Amino acid sequence: MNKGLVCVIDLGTTKVVCVAASTRESEIKVEGVSTVGSSGMKKGVVVDQDAVAGAIDEAISRVEREVGQGLDDVIVSVSGAHLQSVNAQGFLPIHPGNRPIRRDDVLAVVGHSRQVVLPADREQIMAVPREFRLDGERNVKDPIGRSAARMEVVTHVVTGTIKEVSAVDKAVNKAGRRVTEMVVAPLGSGMGVLPDKAHEEGALVVDIGASTTNVAVFVNGAVGYVCCLPVGSHNVTTDLAALLKVSLDEAERLKTTHGAALSRAAAENEPVEVHQTNQDQARPMQRRVLCEIVESRMREIASLVARAVERSGLGGQLVAGAYITGGGSMLPATGTLFGEALGISKISMAYPRTSGKHARAVELPTMSVAMGLAKYCLESEDNEFAPIAGVTNWKDKIRTITTPFVRKSEGR
Ligand SMILES: Nc1ncnc2c1ncn2[C@@H]1O[C@H](COP(=O)(O)OP(=O)(O)OP(=O)(O)O)[C@@H](O)[C@H]1O
Ligand SMILES: [Mg+2]
Repeated sequence: MNKGLVCVIDLGTTKVVCVAASTRESEIKVEGVSTVGSSGMKKGVVVDQDAVAGAIDEAISRVEREVGQGLDDVIVSVSGAHLQSVNAQGFLPIHPGNRPIRRDDVLAVVGHSRQVVLPADREQIMAVPREFRLDGERNVKDPIGRSAARMEVVTHVVTGTIKEVSAVDKAVNKAGRRVTEMVVAPLGSGMGVLPDKAHEEGALVVDIGASTTNVAVFVNGAVGYVCCLPVGSHNVTTDLAALLKVSLDEAERLKTTHGAALSRAAAENEPVEVHQTNQDQARPMQRRVLCEIVESRMREIASLVARAVERSGLGGQLVAGAYITGGGSMLPATGTLFGEALGISKISMAYPRTSGKHARAVELPTMSVAMGLAKYCLESEDNEFAPIAGVTNWKDKIRTITTPFVRKSEGR
């Protein structure tokens, strides 16, 4: 089956990524990709609208030139510590009892589950059904056509503050484009890197970005928990700059060329040249000392992730282990440190897989969210349940990512 072009945008703290993709014979084909450096985001949220809009326009325009068509409608990631997720329940008696369930029944029961009372400053960004229950039979993925007298649903509802969500909307509008849907970044990372079986078996996804770390837990073929921690690899850089008295550029160089997440990964007495501010000459220092600074921040991030997993209540179900991605995961020994801190023996360093001429540009841990967004949209296109009646913009859309996984694992 072939599907038309979708345009997705990952609004990262250091860069805006634009990917245009379609499907051919069930394979996702990247048709165009661009990465533009951005300085308008902080901790995953928009702080300089003009700068973000400029980067979005530049990123999309480059892809437009590559694919030879205009891309006005975009699916965009939303990130930041304001994201919160809850698992909400809904139920619906089916009248007359035991008739086959229709699409509008599914809409009604999911709609019921979404009647979550929110504080005045928050709104729903996504609602993803996790499982349906038919007359008590649990974990039904696709209830349409089945017969039951009572249907229940557990829906994963992700909310954000109206201020931060509308800032993303406005930045895209300012770039002359329109948001058709928002996908929370942690879900994007999971969709970008998890192999099919891992969603079913239970997996943790950790995306260590520049100033955020996204956490998502998938169980029983659906997302069960997401959160965004306001700390990332740029904190390692600022620690090095402060403690070694070097510029941010020099700290970034030291981190990416000599850093490791575990100081024991550095040999004893291994020297590195450090250019301190206000010093003409570079001076030698022990690489292990540098790595101790790196390790202490990476340990802090890992322990915050461990606490998030604890809060999810799903830590006991991670049979497929943890998948670590994001630019910050490129530090050597990150997998070992996270394995130790999380008490998980199965750790995979992950990045999105693709084929074709864009493989080199896309198969990077920094591209997980963008590729996940593309996959999410292309794979769930046929299974989109709503927009809810009367809503014409992206808000209140309900999608499911359960059905594509079911289709694959059952070979339907
Ligand atoms: N080889 C490397 N070794 C260590 N760190 C690296 C390496 N390459 C990039 N990084 C770090 O990865 C970070 C950028 O990662 P990424 O592109 O995933 O972040 P982002 O998406 O822009 O930010 P966020 O997700 O927090 O909004 C930077 O802090 C950078 O220093
Ligand atoms: Mg990111």
